[in-house]
Amino acid sequence: MCGIVGYIGHRQAFPILIKGLHRLEYRGYDSAGIAILQDKIKLYKTKGKVSDLEELVKGENLSGNIGIAHTRWATHGEPNNENAHPHLSPSGDLALIHNGIIENYAILKKELLKRGHVFLSDTDSEVLVHLIEDIMINDKVTLVEALQIALGYVIGAYAIIILSRNNPDLLLAAKKGSPLVIGIGKDEFFIASDATPIVEYTKDVVYLKEEEIAILERNKDLKLITVSNQEKRPYIEQLEMSLSELEKEGFPYFMLKEIYEQPRSIRDSMRGRLNAEKGIVSLGGIIDYEKNLVNAKRILIIGCGTSWHAGLVGKYLLEDLARIPVEVEYASEFRYRNPVICEGDVVIAVSQSGETADTSAAIELAKSKGAIILGICNVVGSSITRVTHAGTYTHAGPEIGVASTKAFTAQVTILTLLALRLGYIRGTIQESRYRQLLFELETIPEKVEQTLKTFDIIKNISNIFKDSKNFIYLGRGYNFPVALEGALKLKEISYIHAEGYPAAEMKHGPIALIDEEMPVVVIATNKGTYQKVLSNIAEVKSRKGKIIAIVTEGDVAVKKIADFVIEIPETEEMFVPLIATIPLQLLSYQIAVIRGCNVDQPRNLAKSVTVE
Ligand code: F6R
Repeated sequence: MCGIVGYIGHRQAFPILIKGLHRLEYRGYDSAGIAILQDKIKLYKTKGKVSDLEELVKGENLSGNIGIAHTRWATHGEPNNENAHPHLSPSGDLALIHNGIIENYAILKKELLKRGHVFLSDTDSEVLVHLIEDIMINDKVTLVEALQIALGYVIGAYAIIILSRNNPDLLLAAKKGSPLVIGIGKDEFFIASDATPIVEYTKDVVYLKEEEIAILERNKDLKLITVSNQEKRPYIEQLEMSLSELEKEGFPYFMLKEIYEQPRSIRDSMRGRLNAEKGIVSLGGIIDYEKNLVNAKRILIIGCGTSWHAGLVGKYLLEDLARIPVEVEYASEFRYRNPVICEGDVVIAVSQSGETADTSAAIELAKSKGAIILGICNVVGSSITRVTHAGTYTHAGPEIGVASTKAFTAQVTILTLLALRLGYIRGTIQESRYRQLLFELETIPEKVEQTLKTFDIIKNISNIFKDSKNFIYLGRGYNFPVALEGALKLKEISYIHAEGYPAAEMKHGPIALIDEEMPVVVIATNKGTYQKVLSNIAEVKSRKGKIIAIVTEGDVAVKKIADFVIEIPETEEMFVPLIATIPLQLLSYQIAVIRGCNVDQPRNLAKSVTVE
């Protein structure tokens, strides 16, 4: 995790770096730091958030037009001032910021300690900057050469930027495993973990590739070389992101803005891919691998957290509509067992950030066993989009709130389109049913819009249950992944313990937890196993649990026994996750707000989990 940003050019670096850190704060907020080059490197760093850093530097002279800055999600070493980045080399001539993990740092550190190095922090990153300077001095090589040699020793992942007192017109950056984007302006360069700190200055960007080093020199063209000293030609791409996508636009939190964006983000994810009138579903990004999917003996969906939940909805859809067996795997488990991958298997990796380390490692493993890998990612140009054979973007737009909301519904939208397309080609859905489903799918954004109007009711419910210690979420069939997702959202932003369960599994254990103190959120929409869920609700009621039910508009039976109901518009059973998730997002949001939690930046979490 961690966010890194750098600037070299003719403007004042400080405001660009601070604004950049705010944009990258979703990546971690344990500590923040900045280094600006004047006649020497001026360094400020502190435990806490970017706002704490701003407080720390108030009144300081931070003028200068070259600098680097960092916001940290702690891996090695607790969050404190010493472990905050940037880290200095022993002479103080080099400052380095790092996102990633140097796995062999302990061995490197031991060697350096023997040679008299003194370390001020517990981080792996400080070891790297010491190593680079040590090589420069002992091997009498340039900074670039020392960096190449040092990175040759390193095992692990890194995105780094280096500022050098003796090279006042130079910034160096390097990448392996962790992301890094360079923005190319007129006589200036911006560099960051993602494009959000760059977009307001330039749309021309270069995504660094594995083991590439960028040499950013004032008034010179960008130069790329590899760790093994090959020259590379920069491939300049155009950013499609707009600045307004990165602002809260009047909402108190990004999470709320992103929940309210879902009618648009679902529509955008369907745009150009769904035409109900003509009976067409097409996913251009994976067209070259459509045959592999159509003939797949099995599909494996891999992901983590919310993306895993979307994958589970995908399983139900693909098995239901396309009749292809699907397994959904936690990437973190998949990568460390010895999974069976057979000829004819297709792997679909689902990831909002496209940077999740476990998902990337699972992809590498599946690839090494010969599988075709397709991606469903949100962040354009992210690492996973570069290692998959092909993929489809979700078009949800930047998701800044750490808890995933619009990315989930966009992922489910893509999986729905995929299942419909495969079902149609494989002939496992009748033409008339297929057409009917396409027309219904087109109405979903409108129905999501309507569902957002339940927020007032949800606010009342949130006031009543804000102090509950535990929640249970129940759903069956397509609504089981919705229950899991609802429970995850509550846990991560309000810190209330919550469990998602298949409604009928409750009687095999969790029912023991039910008493008058236990709120039970049940997704009880009117299709599929509705009658069965009704019985499950009765089981909870007879043990005095409090039922909050998500029901279909006009419901009568659940209303009679539930304590609270939230009505959502009627739709096909398989499309319910796209709608029923919305009130659960709003419920966790509102409870977190009432409890005074930092909704956008929940404790201990970060948006891109680029470490194991
Ligand atoms: C939950 C959440 C996480 C992510 C998970 C995977 O709200 O955001 O559970 O879903 O870390 O991240 P991506 O989708 O970026 O691979």
